[in-house]
Amino acid sequence: MFDSTTRTVVVVGAQWGDEGKGKLVDVLAEKADWVVRYQGGANAGHTVHIGDKSFILHQIPSGILHPGVRCAIGNGVVMDPETLFTEVDELIADGVDVEGRLYVSERAHLVMPYHKLVDKASAASKAIGTTGRGIGPAYEDKVARRGVRVLDLRNPARLRELVTAGVERANAQLERSGSDLRASVDDTIAALDALSPRLLGLAEDVGLCVHRAIKNGAAVLLEGAQGSMLDIDHGTYPFVTSSNTTVGGAATGVGISPMSLQCALGVVKAYTTRVGHGPLPTEFAEPLQTQVRTLGHEFGATTGRARRCGWFDGVVVRYAARVNGLTALAITKLDVLDTLDELMVCTGYRINGEVHTEFPADLQLLEHAEPVYETMPGWNQSTQDARKLEDLPAAARAYLDRLEELCETPIAYVSVGTRRDQIIGVH
Ligand code: GTP
Repeated sequence: MFDSTTRTVVVVGAQWGDEGKGKLVDVLAEKADWVVRYQGGANAGHTVHIGDKSFILHQIPSGILHPGVRCAIGNGVVMDPETLFTEVDELIADGVDVEGRLYVSERAHLVMPYHKLVDKASAASKAIGTTGRGIGPAYEDKVARRGVRVLDLRNPARLRELVTAGVERANAQLERSGSDLRASVDDTIAALDALSPRLLGLAEDVGLCVHRAIKNGAAVLLEGAQGSMLDIDHGTYPFVTSSNTTVGGAATGVGISPMSLQCALGVVKAYTTRVGHGPLPTEFAEPLQTQVRTLGHEFGATTGRARRCGWFDGVVVRYAARVNGLTALAITKLDVLDTLDELMVCTGYRINGEVHTEFPADLQLLEHAEPVYETMPGWNQSTQDARKLEDLPAAARAYLDRLEELCETPIAYVSVGTRRDQIIGVH
């Protein structure tokens, strides 16, 4: 992906998240100088397997697993300082040298303990199926212009003012929702005071650092969390996350110009999954649902929740290719389909007798949508040892060709297993 002319690459999920972006970022980070997260919070959960070890990274870019790569958390992320340092300490305990190469944007908003309380108690969170990690309430405060940013930790008087107002609001909300839980100003300030010297030690103007790095010819990887269909604007609203997960969010969430982004790699599973409520037009019926969920270990890295699984949805990925301007695709988890006799690929939705090939904005239309499928033969053999396209069975290659055609985007990578080396570079 990176070469002498392509120096800035965005990795984005092109479905409903959990596409395996962590693995792709890990593979690409080998050639990167910087890896930067641009949105989301501790609700993301990249899983990277190296040798016998599994690393689950919620907030720190997975580039941290490559010595010498600088990693940053951009202004678009809402950051939970407590879990950040748990993660840092776990990495250190595992022998990863984090010192001097992790930065946090001073403009990033903080997830406060009271955001988590409100998130857990809120009926809206339950309806949408949020992770209860305070991400939604932190973004709400950001948009309402009353959030606490990293730089506020430098000013104790201002911090107390913001926290006092935040705790009051949170407690009123908790009371309204019938919860017995209450936040406390002093406890919140004490928790922040304990973390603040360490956090301020990482605080930087990340936009400026990345801008300078790009000017100096550095290879910069911008790492998205969740997926395009969870984007607050372009996803299946209201069953979405609180931020712009798509490529536009990468520029605003890091603080660099959109004109500096050169390549957008869309990561997609060879089938479809989603966590929580909301439409999933190609959802499997039983027993296929349980079969694929088990084969693909489709349980959330952060919450352990079972993911809903379905056939590959070409309407979704073509839409994601358009809103992101994807320049390439990475197809992951092809190996999960190895034992299926037959595969279906969705090419459109039949709604009230009419076939739609563009993803509709109105979810009510999806309630009546019947996927239009093409059936393709399975390959019934393992793809896990394939390292070049030619190693794949002809039926698997035909399947990939069809996905490429449907999504109108060339495939650059095919992942055939959890390990770093289980990947095919196509171009
Ligand atoms: P989010 O940012 O939360 O959306 O995470 P993500 O896109 O990084 O996905 P996550 O790491 O949570 O889930 C992907 C899981 O699939 C991990 O356990 C990976 O190890 C695994 N995985 C990635 N690629 C492959 C693959 O090609 N085959 C198989 N079998 N597993 C894979």
